[in-house]
Amino acid sequence: MIKNICCIGAGYVGGPTMAVIALKNPNINVTVVDINKNRIDAWNSEDLSSLPIYEPGLDEVVAEARGRNLFFSTDVDKAITESEMIFISVNTPTKTYGKGKGMAADLKYIELCARQIAEIAKTDKIVVEKSTLPVRTSEALKSILDNTGNGVKFQILSNPEFLAEGTAISDLLSPDRVLIGGGTDEEGTNAVNALVSIYEAWVPSDKIITTNVWSSELSKLTANAFLAQRVSSINAMSELCEVTGADVNEVAKAIGMDSRIGSKFLKASVGFGGSCFQKDILNLVYIARSYGLNQVADYWEQVIIMNDYQKNRFAKKILTTLYNTVSGKKIAFLGWAFKKDTNDTRESAAIYVADALLDEQANIAVYDPKVVKEQMYNDLANLNTRKVEEIEAGISVFSEVYELCKDAHAIAILTEWDEFKEYDWKMIYENMKKPAFLFDGRNILNGENMENIGFVYNGIGISKNIE
Ligand code: UDX
Ligand code: ADP
Repeated sequence: MIKNICCIGAGYVGGPTMAVIALKNPNINVTVVDINKNRIDAWNSEDLSSLPIYEPGLDEVVAEARGRNLFFSTDVDKAITESEMIFISVNTPTKTYGKGKGMAADLKYIELCARQIAEIAKTDKIVVEKSTLPVRTSEALKSILDNTGNGVKFQILSNPEFLAEGTAISDLLSPDRVLIGGGTDEEGTNAVNALVSIYEAWVPSDKIITTNVWSSELSKLTANAFLAQRVSSINAMSELCEVTGADVNEVAKAIGMDSRIGSKFLKASVGFGGSCFQKDILNLVYIARSYGLNQVADYWEQVIIMNDYQKNRFAKKILTTLYNTVSGKKIAFLGWAFKKDTNDTRESAAIYVADALLDEQANIAVYDPKVVKEQMYNDLANLNTRKVEEIEAGISVFSEVYELCKDAHAIAILTEWDEFKEYDWKMIYENMKKPAFLFDGRNILNGENMENIGFVYNGIGISKNIE
């Protein structure tokens, strides 16, 4: 019986996942640790609106479990010592240097964790990979743990996370499935069963599937590749719609009713973002190439190429529609997060569209309900395409939409926040420069209504002036 769990990494995955595990297993102590003291302080904050990540429903779960059996701490060693089961939820960004630069996952944070666990552990541990990892990482983990440890036994499990940000709590509370990969010998099976029983506290048994470790690791990459591929596929069609007179929303509806295709993940957009899709596909491509499977690698790489193209295409459309110059023009961005209901901006399309428009000397004004100014500046600085002073000069951040859009030449919607639909668009229109251009990168507004107000409306995959 597991009595104490620890999770290394208090981020978008570790935080919500452990909060729900603690909520549903009041008899298990769950300690989430992180080396980032500010993050831990924010998790411990009295004011629940100051939690480090924004996720609908998370505050209520934390309010119930925190201090009861859910704890946040920076004392990693103590948490490792006291736990029988250790989840690793540290970040695994794409490598920015050396072999596999720009493609392979950077496993240095994982390796540091493994070494720390090996050094500290004095009793047997079950180590659970929670981060998205390339296939066969568990082998590396096992090798480090077995070769540098104190002779204690480690079982490695893969338990990939399928939660989507913005819906993390409901995804965790009622998952489509829970996947657990582990060893098939007796000790492996016992470890798998220990984790199964934690999920069985709230997930029906038939939704908990167990596999070997490799299948589990590869399933995670495959799921994200398939989902991202759907977005790139509909985005590819969006351009064809624009030139032929079709409407991508109608096409998506028509094909989505085919039960073999299904209606989800068919929303044309300015391009997918987030911490997983691009990283996981690049991983897949890298792995395939390293086995010499070039056709497989090229096939999946095209999903990324299409996504980059869609982001660029959106920026280019703004430029060409505004008479081929945005220099000195105020372009109002609605949204910066990679999707609604999150403050996460990793790989957000907004960053790349802003970068392309800064190349054209646009004055970009941004409003996002949950993303702070420093984050936007950091995101652009991390591209290494221009100096910090240029970023600060080119981007101004607003906390209110009507001021944001005042005297703007164009508005670009980058994130599908619900509140954007509720604005007084007539008032926004009246205070803009004319013609007032509106680029709806998420197709959340009714184009006809916007044109009736007076806007020149451009959605994604909606043709203009073609009968
Ligand atoms: C994804 C997976 O869904 C999740 O299972 C996995 O564990 C992590 O990666 P996430 O990145 O949080 O989750 O968000 P998701 O809802 O999948 O959206 C990813 C991106 O695709 C967003 O930028 C979103 O706006 C975009 N998207 C999604 C579209 O453009 N169109 C769609 O129809 C769906
Ligand atoms: P994810 O979306 O995968 O959860 P995040 O970047 O939000 O990614 O969270 C990962 C967290 O892991 C960060 O808060 C980071 O500080 C933490 N972390 C990274 N390495 C270690 C480590 N060796 N020990 C403890 N925490 C770590």
